[in-house]
Amino acid sequence: MSSSAMPSLDLLSSQITAVLADPATTHGLARTLRAAAKEIELHRHHHASRRACPNGRIDDKPAKVQIGGGAHRIDGFFNIDLVPPADLLWDIRQGIPLQDSSVTEIFSEHFLEHIDYPRSAKHYVHEAHRVLEPGGWIITGVPDAAFVLSNYPKPLDADDETLARWYAKRNCLGDINTRLDLVNLVFRDQDDDPTYTPHLWAYDYDKLAQLFTEAGFTTVAPWRFDPTMANQKRHWGSVYVVATK
Ligand SMILES: C[S@@+](CC[C@H](N)C(=O)[O-])C[C@H]1O[C@@H](n2cnc3c(N)ncnc32)[C@H](O)[C@@H]1O
Repeated sequence: MSSSAMPSLDLLSSQITAVLADPATTHGLARTLRAAAKEIELHRHHHASRRACPNGRIDDKPAKVQIGGGAHRIDGFFNIDLVPPADLLWDIRQGIPLQDSSVTEIFSEHFLEHIDYPRSAKHYVHEAHRVLEPGGWIITGVPDAAFVLSNYPKPLDADDETLARWYAKRNCLGDINTRLDLVNLVFRDQDDDPTYTPHLWAYDYDKLAQLFTEAGFTTVAPWRFDPTMANQKRHWGSVYVVATK
């Protein structure tokens, strides 16, 4: 959106705030408006950065890049995320704002499932291929849908690892307490929580391999979990691949 269109975005934002504050607003409408309000905030972050690089590419040439790292930082990696803290606030659905063949390594975990498939996910993977130098690689970790589906037929023990680990710091035991709830969690986690971005697509090893191969990567292989890079809490229940250009 051009900067001249911003005043109407501000107006829309204040109108959404007013409707959300009205007790008569239905749950369904409020849910949709909260999502819109969040996208407006993300749009603001993205366009503040976009104005600083009108051609859509930053001048810096970081060799190692983390995408969607949130608060998880990795030494030596340049972090790109929608929200602070990040080295660059950028909406990856709009592409990766780096020069062609300039990056040796990209790392991302528990990010890909938060963008829409196929449009944004395929665009992101093609962009990763563009910015990586020949021989460069991208490591991708996501919740492993195959893992949760293979556990579905088994009995669920409320004390077992499955429930205890899945929640991390959230307290949702009252809502997520059957095997099917765990399946739902992989496919639509946090859909109703405005402080999180929901899961929009589920992945397993085969799907990741297909996605990266289709984008032109020459090899895709399992990645051995390395706790010096990855977020330790992602070790359980995730699948990681490394795709090389
Ligand atoms: C579940 S968190 C994972 C954070 C971290 N990688 C970890 O494993 O702890 C998902 C992250 O992806 C980021 N994200 C989601 N959609 C994004 C987008 N379109 N562009 C950039 N970052 C995005 C979110 O802001 C958030 O930091």
